[in-house]
Parts: sequence; C-alpha cells; structure tokens
Amino acid sequence: MADAKPKPPILEVERLTKYFGGLAAVKDVSFEVREGQIFGFIGPNGAGKTTLFSIIAGALKPSSGKVRSRGRDITALKPFQLVQAGIARTHQIVRPFREMTVLENVKLASHFGRKNVTSDSAAEEHAMQILTWFGMETFAQKSASILSVGLQKRLEITRAMATEPDLLLCDEICGGLTHVETAAMLDWLRRIRDRGTTVMYVEHDVKAITAVCDRILVLNYGRKLSEGAPDHIQQDPAVIEAYLGHPPGRRQEG
Ligand SMILES: Nc1ncnc2c1ncn2[C@@H]1O[C@H](COP(=O)(O)OP(=O)(O)OP(=O)(O)O)[C@@H](O)[C@H]1O
Ligand SMILES: [Mg+2]
Repeated sequence: MADAKPKPPILEVERLTKYFGGLAAVKDVSFEVREGQIFGFIGPNGAGKTTLFSIIAGALKPSSGKVRSRGRDITALKPFQLVQAGIARTHQIVRPFREMTVLENVKLASHFGRKNVTSDSAAEEHAMQILTWFGMETFAQKSASILSVGLQKRLEITRAMATEPDLLLCDEICGGLTHVETAAMLDWLRRIRDRGTTVMYVEHDVKAITAVCDRILVLNYGRKLSEGAPDHIQQDPAVIEAYLGHPPGRRQEG
C-alpha cells in the first residue's frame, strides 16, 4: 500500500523578515512546525523571539516573507482571524483585565474563540471547564489583580486555551517562577500538547526548553543560528559560542 501523503505542517515560516527602521529584528527566518510538537525558541535578549511570535499572531506585519498554516497563507490575517484559524498566543508581559475576575477574563476569551458560544451562560460553562482543566477553578471569582506571578501566567495560558487553539504560542511563561513552579508549568505544556494543541515555546531557561521541546530553533540577532533536536542544539559549536557558552551568571535573564 502506498504511504499516505504527509499532511502540510501546522505552521510553515518562509524567509520571514521584520525591520524596525534600519534594525533587522527578524531576518530570513524559515522553519516548519509539525502537529503534536513542542517547538522551542531560544536566543539572547533582543534576538527577535517576541517579534517572530507577534508576526505569526498577526500583531505585527512582516517586512517580507510568508507564514502558512496547513498550506493556507495566513501572513496578512488579523489577530482575531488567526484566533478563528486556531492560532493563539500568550504575552511575555501578562495582560489580564485586572479589574475583572479570573472567570470574566476567561469568559471573554471564550466569546472570541472558536467554540460556538452564543450566550453568556454557554461562555461561562465553557470558561469554567477550561479553568477546571487547568486547576484554576478555585480562583474563578477572585480579581485577576490579586493573583501571584505564577497564577497570572497560568491565567494568560488559560485565556489563550479558551479560544480552543490548534497551535499555542507561549512567550516566556516561566520567567519569574520558582524551580517547582517551572516544573509544574512544563507539565502543563505537555498536557496541552497531549490534549491536541501543538505548542511553540519561547524561554530563556535552556534547561526548561531542552526538557520539554522536541525541536529547538536558536535565534541570534534576528537570524536563525541553529535548529534541531535538543541534543543537537546543546552540542552545536555556534550555539555554544553565541549563547550557551557564557559562564553561569554572566547572561542577563530577561
Ligand atoms: N516595536 C518595536 N520598535 C522598535 N524596535 C523594536 C520593537 N520591538 C522590538 N524591537 C527591537 O527588535 C529586536 C528584537 O526584539 P524582541 O523583543 O523580538 O527580542 P526577544 O528575543 O523577544 O528579546 P527578550 O529575550 O528580551 O524578550 C530588539 O533589538 C528590540 O529592541
Ligand atoms: Mg521577548
């Protein structure tokens, strides 16, 4: 029997470039993300990781290059259209509506998401399901403003998951967390993947990235420096020199 034709990747990025004035924040970056992967991005401060995510999520227009999802050109889509296409993101600086409760924050995301939520009660039911899945149900009626950093990061992911994405872009969800909280967060990423959502994950913590990712892309000054399995990245001389080789404590965490 002939092999089935492989499905187009859930995300294909082709020679993506973004200039801010004369600065190439992202330059000629190409890669593919396959369904079911946790695909990681590392690179020093200012390497272009957040800019790359912002372009994919439709918040920034690229200067050139293409983004495709399952073969469809999604480069020019607006953020709400991308959410409808199954792509959601979290922000490096968390952005809850602080004057709202945790439940109200997640309900809002349910309303704008892909689940056909037509009433307030349906949105509430859906939001509670997601909060419960994420172990956040006891915080539902609390104001978002009183959450700890770790819980705010979880709320950020919960809101993104309430849109029912096929692809979730997570930007530095472990920054500021303790080792125990980081390990728990990595477990959540695995559970999200096992639930059927492919994950793209930016983090400074190389140990966290290599522990959870199937494949890693290293950015440096906006360009792709290396790409491959965690073992490959950790042994690549170019990566060691540019990023991993600094003695502990020399690099600024950010
Ligand atoms: N809106 C903007 N206007 C001008 N320059 C920008 C803008 N956003 C980012 N930059 C610049 O683009 C480069 C890439 O920034 P970006 O935030 O994507 O890096 P990063 O890899 O996410 O860094 P970090 O690890 O610190 O979060 C940096 O030099 C940054 O100063
Ligand atoms: Mg960033």
